[in-house]
Amino acid sequence: MNVFITRVIPQKGLELLKAAGCTVKQHTEQRELSPEELIEQCRNQDVLLSSGPNVIDAHFLQTCRRLKGIALLSVGHDNVDLEAATRFGIPVSNTPDVLTQATADTAFLLMLAVSRNAFYMNESIKRGDWGFNEPTANLGRELYGKTLGVFGLGRIGSDLAAKCKAVYQMDIIYHNRKPNKEAEQILGARYVSFETLLQQSDVLSVHAGLSPETKRIFNMAAFKRMKPSSIFVNTARGGLHDEADLTAALQQQLIWGAGLDVTNPEPMAPDNPLLNMMNVCVLPHIGSATVETRDKMAIMAAENIIAAVEKRKMPQILNP
Ligand code: DGY
Repeated sequence: MNVFITRVIPQKGLELLKAAGCTVKQHTEQRELSPEELIEQCRNQDVLLSSGPNVIDAHFLQTCRRLKGIALLSVGHDNVDLEAATRFGIPVSNTPDVLTQATADTAFLLMLAVSRNAFYMNESIKRGDWGFNEPTANLGRELYGKTLGVFGLGRIGSDLAAKCKAVYQMDIIYHNRKPNKEAEQILGARYVSFETLLQQSDVLSVHAGLSPETKRIFNMAAFKRMKPSSIFVNTARGGLHDEADLTAALQQQLIWGAGLDVTNPEPMAPDNPLLNMMNVCVLPHIGSATVETRDKMAIMAAENIIAAVEKRKMPQILNP
């Protein structure tokens, strides 16, 4: 069986695939494949292991009819038309659970870094500007006892909430499509309307998937309802916030700061004004980027591929 992989993945995943008798071809250039190139590469492949934002739509699926399975190296699957994949009989899997803690850590890191303007000050020092440390200069915001608002309280949002509760005794409120009773019991989290989430959060962290309902839900209308002292964190998908509106909201001091691990587009242009703001931290989509987590993701994706190849149900199938 032939497997095409869109980016270089950890050795542990490759070893599993090879031990199962798969012939693996990896795209090793450090750039995204265009949709046409992806089709060209996958026409004669049996399985696709997709890492990154490759568009897997009805046209792709119809053209690459030989595919017997698609394994995503991510938990997010907004780049895949699952309904079309089901229609064409192609199982699709993702890598949930194994990246929960690493991604929640990234949100926690951003929240803390923004609250103390840490990245910006570190950059200033490198430019030779230590500043004059007056008692009124370099002031951040404390997190202790504040309110964490989670938009999308699933696995990652719950892990962040648990960390915030344990470290800063934060009060947890959340907004979901439907209430998460388990998290309510374990974390004492309170379900609130979107409006209340905006109004009451001191830190608002985004953990929902990108869908037509959530696209640009964090726009000027939303930022206007947030506290001027609040911090906006997004480690989910850049498409959930409107970047121009976020920039304007920060410039107008409608919110205190923002921490972004995801942008729209990615990569963010180096001249993006957000990169020069004291109260903004931007990371290059590294939510799950730890040695341990990426190994687990590669192993999980390989196990899903082997299941598809052996005509078994993929363990992490998204379209059963
Ligand atoms: C995920 O797993 O969805 C990460 O954001 C990587 O894309």
